[in-house]
Amino acid sequence: MTLQRLDASQRPTHAQQLFEFLKQRIYFQERALVEVANALAVKDAPFHVRNGPLAVLFFAGPSGVGKTETAHALAEFLFQDRNACTIINGSEYSQGHEIARLIGAPPGYIGYYEPDDDKSNAPPLLEQNMIDKPAFDFIKKSTRIVGEKMDQDEEELKRLKDELALLLRQEKPDMQRIEEIKRKIKEGEEYVNLITHLASQQEGICHHSVVVFDEIEKAHENLHRLLLQIISEGRLGMSHGAYTSFSDSFVIITSNIGSREIAKTITGESVVGYKTADTRSAHAIDQDIYNATMKELRRFFPPELVGRLQGRVVVFRPLSEDQLRAIAEGKLNAFIGNNVVNSPFPLELIIDDSAKELIFQKSLGHPEYGARPLEEKIRSHLIDPLNRLVTSGQVRPGARIVVKTDSDDVLFFLDTEVQPIDEELVRKIGEKIASH
Ligand SMILES: Nc1ncnc2c1ncn2[C@@H]1O[C@H](COP(=O)(O)OP(=O)(O)OP(=O)(O)O)[C@@H](O)[C@H]1O
Ligand SMILES: [Mg+2]
Repeated sequence: MTLQRLDASQRPTHAQQLFEFLKQRIYFQERALVEVANALAVKDAPFHVRNGPLAVLFFAGPSGVGKTETAHALAEFLFQDRNACTIINGSEYSQGHEIARLIGAPPGYIGYYEPDDDKSNAPPLLEQNMIDKPAFDFIKKSTRIVGEKMDQDEEELKRLKDELALLLRQEKPDMQRIEEIKRKIKEGEEYVNLITHLASQQEGICHHSVVVFDEIEKAHENLHRLLLQIISEGRLGMSHGAYTSFSDSFVIITSNIGSREIAKTITGESVVGYKTADTRSAHAIDQDIYNATMKELRRFFPPELVGRLQGRVVVFRPLSEDQLRAIAEGKLNAFIGNNVVNSPFPLELIIDDSAKELIFQKSLGHPEYGARPLEEKIRSHLIDPLNRLVTSGQVRPGARIVVKTDSDDVLFFLDTEVQPIDEELVRKIGEKIASH
């Protein structure tokens, strides 16, 4: 026997891609993101020991540190749409009877759902077709795009064949061109065959779903019981008799249960203080959050549920002030990149460092909300005023806007040396973006 040491920590490519994708959107939570990526790695694995959902992840940690955002980013990775997930917000299910919206009302009650009856009420939110809808929509969309590409290629092939026929009819045909066209036709046909094959395969592929139980501690215990059934059996009975299978689902549960406890253990104070977050080892903080979460879980949830959540708790860390600053920078750059440069109304936006810092400073003061206030401040101090400048006609597409500060205000300047661009061109760019 010749033994070669193997590395079981390596992830398959798609799981690694997911990790890289999440890392670009959610900062400073790498350890948590690794867990999410590992969950995807299970997907094609041949050896399973699970009966429940594809993955069950319990995201614990203080407010505004990326828990819900990670679920959105996972949906974006899988279906190119951050909203392609079913989100059940615990606070909307604080009354026991409200779970009827999830599994349907009992027969004979108002709101009862009858699958084969056209006039029936809306299906319950956790019905199989409802949780699978984002995946179906995605398959439909991608099949259409593949189909369109195929039409284009078939047209091109037809054109090449016509040209070949024409050439062959000539007395002294250009042999070099004939060979070139034959080669292109051969390659084109192989390509069209491949795409046809992929398109037909896609129809049958079973895709995943992302089901998020957000802020679970706010929900009634009836919802906790549903969750227990989903986690332990991987399926949930609807009141009309059918079962929804969660075996291809990422079930994500988020909670900042234990936040107070977490705050106390980390800072010795009553709120999560970001200043102290980086003075202790990250591992020790993770362990504290984990312990505080488990302790609170035992208070809130039935023991069977706690038992099943053990080992699935993914800790999201509090963010330090410097980390929040880096997130602010990332969000401003992303806004400039996604919404300004590539929009139907392109602008060149230069935000000087003092303006960035001022927007960031305005978002401070509420460490207990993590990165949440940042979004609000970027909107109120940058996006809203920019929209007003555009809608009031002061700024034309292609303009260069410089954002600066005067002591406590964010100010906007137009560089008059830069000529606005042709509006017809802008309209065309806009149409092109809209059609994608
Ligand atoms: N680590 C992070 N990296 C980048 N952005 C973040 C991060 N954490 C939070 N944000 C931003 O802050 C906002 C709130 O984050 P999110 O909704 O994920 O909070 P949460 O952890 O679910 O908090 P809560 O427990 O209050 O629901 C989002 O706009 C998100 O983009
Ligand atoms: Mg949240």
